[in-house]
Amino acid sequence: MKADLIIYNINTVYTPYIVPPIRGKNMSRLYSLDRAFIAVQGDRILAVSTGSFDQHVSEYTVLHDAKGAIAIPGLIDSHTHLVHAGSREMEYDKMKAGVPYLDILKSGGGILNTVEKTRQASFGELYRKAYQSLDEMMLYGVTVVEAKSGYGLNLETEVKQLSVARELSKDHPIHILSTYMGAHAIPIEYTHYKDDYVDEVIEDLKFIKKNGLAEAVDVFCEEGVFSVEDTKHILMSAHAMGFKIKLHSDEMKSIGGTSLGIDLEATSIDHLMSITDSDIAKLAKSNVAANLLPGTSFYLKKKYAPARKILDAGCIVSISGDYNPGSCPTENFQFIMQLAYQHYDMKPEEILNATTLNPAYHLGIHETHGSLEPGKHANIVLLNVPNLSYMLYHYGINHTKDVFIDGKLVVLNRQIVRKI
Ligand code: NIG
Ligand code: FE
Repeated sequence: MKADLIIYNINTVYTPYIVPPIRGKNMSRLYSLDRAFIAVQGDRILAVSTGSFDQHVSEYTVLHDAKGAIAIPGLIDSHTHLVHAGSREMEYDKMKAGVPYLDILKSGGGILNTVEKTRQASFGELYRKAYQSLDEMMLYGVTVVEAKSGYGLNLETEVKQLSVARELSKDHPIHILSTYMGAHAIPIEYTHYKDDYVDEVIEDLKFIKKNGLAEAVDVFCEEGVFSVEDTKHILMSAHAMGFKIKLHSDEMKSIGGTSLGIDLEATSIDHLMSITDSDIAKLAKSNVAANLLPGTSFYLKKKYAPARKILDAGCIVSISGDYNPGSCPTENFQFIMQLAYQHYDMKPEEILNATTLNPAYHLGIHETHGSLEPGKHANIVLLNVPNLSYMLYHYGINHTKDVFIDGKLVVLNRQIVRKI
């Protein structure tokens, strides 16, 4: 069959190929092909092959010279707090001086600081800031993003955040999946009425569902924020309404959220810095993904999740960015992967599986995304590196050469060339 586009002169194509979820020893497996080409038709991959591509060429075929770059699937960031206003650099000194993250939140700062700014911000302000962040992410090779609300903590602002995400998904090449996170913190006006706020979150689920504003619901299950009971209450209601569910759990302290998330069949449980050995064993027997966020440990100067233990136990592992203004203010997803290489003691192959096909699996898009296989969306990243290990070793810089989303060139020589 003829192709619309052929990306040729690829030094090596690296792609996951195992049917997800990928676990254990399979995490070290990738398909790689040297001196390869990728043929694309419309928004889909037609062939990944080597040798002559003449059979795919017609007079309309665009030929794109990869100039010896390597090719990987578009990266999938399955945990971000994309849409918000303002920044929190003024809190960084406090944190570095040892004031705990949760103490800053308790005194009305932290998440609540961003809530105040997000409530005040206009739709346009939120849209423009998040658009800029998506551009940054795309320059680092990210092609699919999960975006949480959670800086409104009232229906009006949560809806504003989710509507911005929905608009961005139409206007920006990156594909966005939205998550409602009304239970991200207890709003100031409910400080002494937490149970009422939990009820309000559950009530608001109806509006979110009716208007198709989110496919998933997330809760920050942590000491001093939402208890296991609160989390159960919210997530059971969400599940019954047909939402996918997920949790921020064991970020600071292990209070039982992980075990609950497994029982409720969450799609992913995220952070897990303080996960217990018994929860690792329980997670390994489930189909719930461990979504690990090394950038947060780095920025908060906290311990890293015991990734090696989690992987070796046989859990489904994915790695995400957690981009947000308070615990991980960076869109540099390649740095996130490099942190995983350094601190999680993961192999390059494991890291690529954990940032492409496994996140696609727990987001429910693995049949169309997450690997370079015929029939899947042509989300392709070309990197100016000799091999995959080099990308993780030479840290802190952007190795992207070109990025394609749905068969369209969106980044060329590390510059954005197409907005939609
Ligand atoms: O994943 N812990 C809760 N939520 C975010 C941080 C949000 C913020 O500090 O603004 C996280 O770490
Ligand atoms: Fe988060």
